[in-house]
Amino acid sequence: MKNILAFFLGIFSIYGVKISTKPPASTYQYNGNFYWKIGKSNDYYKGDLHRTLFNDYPICVYRDRNNTINAISDICVHRGAALSFGKLLENNCIQCPYHGWEYNEGMIKTIPGCPDMKGKIGTPRFETKEINGDIYLCPTYDLNSQHGIIANNGIYIPPEASNSKFVRISGKKHIKRPNFLVTENVLDMMHISYVHTFGNQVSPIPFEIKYEDIDEFSGKTTFHYTAGATSMSAIIGNAKEVKVENEFYLPDTTVTRVFAGNIVKTIVTHCYPIGKNESILYYDLYRNFLTYPIFDGLFYKQMDITLKEDVGILNTIYDNHIRGFMTTKYDITQLKYREKWNKKFIKEKPPKKEIE
Ligand code: FES
Ligand SMILES: [Fe+2]
Repeated sequence: MKNILAFFLGIFSIYGVKISTKPPASTYQYNGNFYWKIGKSNDYYKGDLHRTLFNDYPICVYRDRNNTINAISDICVHRGAALSFGKLLENNCIQCPYHGWEYNEGMIKTIPGCPDMKGKIGTPRFETKEINGDIYLCPTYDLNSQHGIIANNGIYIPPEASNSKFVRISGKKHIKRPNFLVTENVLDMMHISYVHTFGNQVSPIPFEIKYEDIDEFSGKTTFHYTAGATSMSAIIGNAKEVKVENEFYLPDTTVTRVFAGNIVKTIVTHCYPIGKNESILYYDLYRNFLTYPIFDGLFYKQMDITLKEDVGILNTIYDNHIRGFMTTKYDITQLKYREKWNKKFIKEKPPKKEIE
């Protein structure tokens, strides 16, 4: 219904003048109609233009003079120059670096030397949200022409974000592997002992494991382990047992929450596709122990080592066999993530590129 309404609104503006944006919605609307995390709030200074490739589609993301995050297609409708190489003027317009055309929220305001050119023409403008210090983008729906597919997922914010007992560190890694492979790796508990140096070497197999659906976009598996004698859980948390909750929220979010005694460490990741074999992974690590900032370095170091180890193993996976041939009960979270992704895609529109 929403889409039908958007379609009619898109044909006629309130004045009956057709709003036209280029390139057409078919070039970007199959990216999966979700919100994706594409940046950290404090990386966006007023007036800086960020060229963001989302699934090979270039988007110019910037904080305008009113402090609002905007995301417009980076392709100038005149001769295709990259708008992100232009600048944000005092009048809040982006000026194309090639022939100076000015765009206000993606719509052309001024064409130098051509005051008579009429019509409502511009670039697609994508919806953004700024929540919990992060920037989210829906790269499938054009607010200007009102074409494309509207996102209908909520944005997951972990309860740790508003719990004063927790502190947070964040980071980012550029990984030359597909985003779904990176995400599924974070939903894969069984690799931890074999790939990671901080893994539980003594009892790598959980003695209990249970999956539950959260809703149509998310699910959760709970694992119970025996704590390794030399693990952080045993040493700091004095725990004999460790519980791990591993959750996913389509399209890009994973949560790994480790409980050991009273200590809780939660790692939240978001991974979006730059292109077919390239992605950006963001992580947030929340902890309710060793909360003084002096300990941050320890956790940054741990994340740095962990991600290097993950990338190391992901690089060994054969491109043509990225899905493997067999699965076990321990792969349930990844399989459910994949299943929900496919269901969602099929419901919206037959996908061009589907994760199998
Ligand atoms: S290419 Fe942008 S103004 Fe000509
Ligand atoms: Fe890992």
